[in-house]
Amino acid sequence: MDKDKIIALLNQDLEGEHGAIIQYLTHAYAMGEGEMACEIEAIAREEMRHLDWLAETIVKLGGVLSLKRGEMRMGGEAVADWMRNSVLLEKDGINLYREHIESVDDPKIKRLLKRILSDEESHHGDFQHFVDKAGREGAKDVRGTRTDRVVQTLNWGIEHEYTVILQYMFQSYMTTNKAAKKELEDQAINEMQHLGWLAEEIVDISGNPRIEHIEVDQSTKTADMLRADIKIEQEVSAAYDHAAKETEDPDLKELLLRIRDHEIYHTEVFSDLLKEEQG
Ligand SMILES: [Fe+2]
Ligand SMILES: [Fe+2]
Ligand SMILES: [Fe+2]
Repeated sequence: MDKDKIIALLNQDLEGEHGAIIQYLTHAYAMGEGEMACEIEAIAREEMRHLDWLAETIVKLGGVLSLKRGEMRMGGEAVADWMRNSVLLEKDGINLYREHIESVDDPKIKRLLKRILSDEESHHGDFQHFVDKAGREGAKDVRGTRTDRVVQTLNWGIEHEYTVILQYMFQSYMTTNKAAKKELEDQAINEMQHLGWLAEEIVDISGNPRIEHIEVDQSTKTADMLRADIKIEQEVSAAYDHAAKETEDPDLKELLLRIRDHEIYHTEVFSDLLKEEQG
């Protein structure tokens, strides 16, 4: 099998992991606090590790990462239905990994795919168990229908955070600047935290978090990446600042100001990196 074909297969797997992460996080947030939500989030974290291994492999082969999100199975009214859908999603993944393991000859890549497959088989069992557990314990969708300005602002925040998570991850795999790689990785993790806080806040106030993103900058030169990042961080710091000043709710204000301060920090980190990159 030639290199381009392997890259295409791995990108298909990467897209699948991306879809699974968003499906599971959406469910975990929708269930509020609780043991099952935590376990589902832990599965999403394992999918992130898979995504990381696949991305590293694709870049090593000289490929460009796909930012497309794979098929999700988001239907269903009750939590047990969601869990049934996640069983099916894992089954989709298992079938695809089995096919890919068959068709790839490279022993290291084969080994990696087998390693991931064993996790997916275990997740498949976990979700089957959650179908019963959800039925037995009556796990609930705790989201509400509130759609006022506050919820819109928080959902705008999620859209931004999701966009920069993808952008910084993409850049951290693609850049050849080691210091930039490390910072982009760190800040992507910090943006994941922000996304989680915002989603949890929306659920707390009876809204519905919407995990969608806008266009991701896909510059391949480090200086261009950092310029795009600085611009987006400056815009978003100002937007969080504005939203914080607008709200009367002290807890929400505190949350927005905390995120704003992180974004200011990101701007400064990226600005320093850009200076170094330009020598
Ligand atoms: Fe999985
Ligand atoms: Fe952020
Ligand atoms: Fe940021």
